[in-house]
Amino acid sequence: MQSTISFILDGKIINIDFHRSRLQPTTTVLNYLRSLPNHKGVKEGCAEGDCGACTVVLAEVGRNGRLHYRAVNSCLVFLPMIHGKQLITVENVTLPGGQLHPVQQALVESHGTQCGFCTPGIVMSLFALYKTTPHPERKEITEALSGNLCRCTGYQPIVVAGFRMSENVNKDHFAQQEKQTIELLQSIEHESLEIRTDRQRYFRPVSLKEALQIRAEHPEAILVSGATDVALRVTKEHELLPVILDLGAVRELAQVTEAGSEITLGTTARIEDLMPVIKEHFPALHSTFAVYGSKQIRELATLGGNLGTASPIGDSAPVLIAYNASLRLQGQHSTREVALDDFFVGYRKTALQPGEIITAVKIPRLKNGTLVKAYKISKRKELDISTLSGGFRLELGENHLVKEIKLAYGGMAEVTKRAAKTESFLLGKRWSRQTVESAFPLLEQDFQPIDDVRGSADFRRLAAKNLLIKFWEESKRG
Ligand code: FES
Ligand code: FES
Repeated sequence: MQSTISFILDGKIINIDFHRSRLQPTTTVLNYLRSLPNHKGVKEGCAEGDCGACTVVLAEVGRNGRLHYRAVNSCLVFLPMIHGKQLITVENVTLPGGQLHPVQQALVESHGTQCGFCTPGIVMSLFALYKTTPHPERKEITEALSGNLCRCTGYQPIVVAGFRMSENVNKDHFAQQEKQTIELLQSIEHESLEIRTDRQRYFRPVSLKEALQIRAEHPEAILVSGATDVALRVTKEHELLPVILDLGAVRELAQVTEAGSEITLGTTARIEDLMPVIKEHFPALHSTFAVYGSKQIRELATLGGNLGTASPIGDSAPVLIAYNASLRLQGQHSTREVALDDFFVGYRKTALQPGEIITAVKIPRLKNGTLVKAYKISKRKELDISTLSGGFRLELGENHLVKEIKLAYGGMAEVTKRAAKTESFLLGKRWSRQTVESAFPLLEQDFQPIDDVRGSADFRRLAAKNLLIKFWEESKRG
C-alpha cells in the first residue's frame, strides 16, 4: 500500500505525501486548489455541489485508451480520489501564449457571462462538453450546464456559446498533448492507497478482495465512492471522519454485465457511465437519473451510494423496487442476495451486516406487457431532492384485470415503502380510473407522511394520489 498520491496538474506530476504535508485525506480538491498561488480561478459558492462555481475537469485514460474528461464539483472530491488522474482548472484551459480557448472565445463572443464568480465553473462545464461531444445538441448543452448557476445573463447566451464553441473542435493543446498526457498518467502506480495521518485513516484499495478485508477489519469505516453525500459532512458540518474506505478505485465494482434475463450494475459505476445501458433497458430508471443532481454530480455519484445512504427520499429506490431489483451483498467470506424491497429496515437503516458491502444491483429485464414508470416531485426539475417520488409497476391480464402491481413511494414514510393495502385492493380488479380512485382511502391508510420544509403532509397525500392517476393515464399509452 502506498500513502502518496500522484496526479497531473499544470502538465506535470504532483505528488502529495500526507505524512509530510499539512493536507488531510479529506481535504477537498477545491480547498487544495485555493491554497495554491496560481489556481484561484476555482471558486467556492455553496460547498455542497449546488452551484457549480467550483467545477474542474478530471481526465483519465478510458477503456478505449483515449483520455476521458469529466466535469466535477471540486468541493465534493477528496484529494485521494484524483490519484492517477489529470486535474484541469480554468487556468489550464487558456491556450499557450495566452490566447483564449475556443470555449472561452465562444463565451466572450456570445456575451455569455458577467459576474466572474460563476464564469470559471461555466467554462469548465462547457470545456468537458467540448472534449466529449464535438457537436452538441441543445439538450446536451443544457444538461452540461445543469449544475451551474448563473443569474446575470440568463442561460440563453451561454447556450449559444455551447453551439459556437464547436466551430473550433479539437483545436487545443489538450488534443495535441494527449499522447504525452496518457504516458504521464500511465507512469503513475495504480496501487492501493492507505493514508494515515494523526487523526485519519483513508483506504483506497484497487481490488474487491482487499476492500472486503479492510471492511472486515474496520467495520466502523465510512464507505465512499463518489462521496457526493458524505463530503457534506466535511464541508458543511466540519466533521472529522476518522476512518474512510473509498471504493472508487475497485474496478470489479464498476462493471456492467448483461447476461440472460438480467442486467447487473456495479455499485460504484458512475451514474453518468450507466446512462447508455439504462436508457436501452430501463427507461423509467433513465428518466429518474436524467434529473438526478446535475451532470457534475452524476459524474461522481454511484448507485451503491444512493442506495447505501438509505435516504427515504433517495431517487433510485422506488423505481428500482418497481423493476424488482435485488442487491448482491458481499462480506469477506459470504455472498447473499437481498430483494431491494427488504433492504431498507428503518430510517437510514439497511439490512447490511457489519463487514458487508453492496457489490451489485441486479435488475431483471422487463417482460413484454409489463409497464414501469417513475415520478419525482421536487421544487426544481434538476439539482433538487424530491418531496416525494414514485416507482410503479403494472401488468394487466385478460379483460384488463390487474395481474401484477407494485407501488413504491419515496418521501411518504421513514423508508422507501410500498403501498401494500392499495396494491392488494387493486390486484385482480379492472384497471380503470374509477378503480384507481376507489383505492384512495387505502392509500391514505398506507402512509402517514410528515410536514417538512419541502411539503406538508396534506400535499404529500394529495400528490401521492395524483401520481397514481398519472400512472393510470400513462398506462393507456403503454
Ligand atoms: Fe458550489 Fe461546489 S462550491 S458546487
Ligand atoms: Fe455569475 Fe452569471 S456569471 S451570475
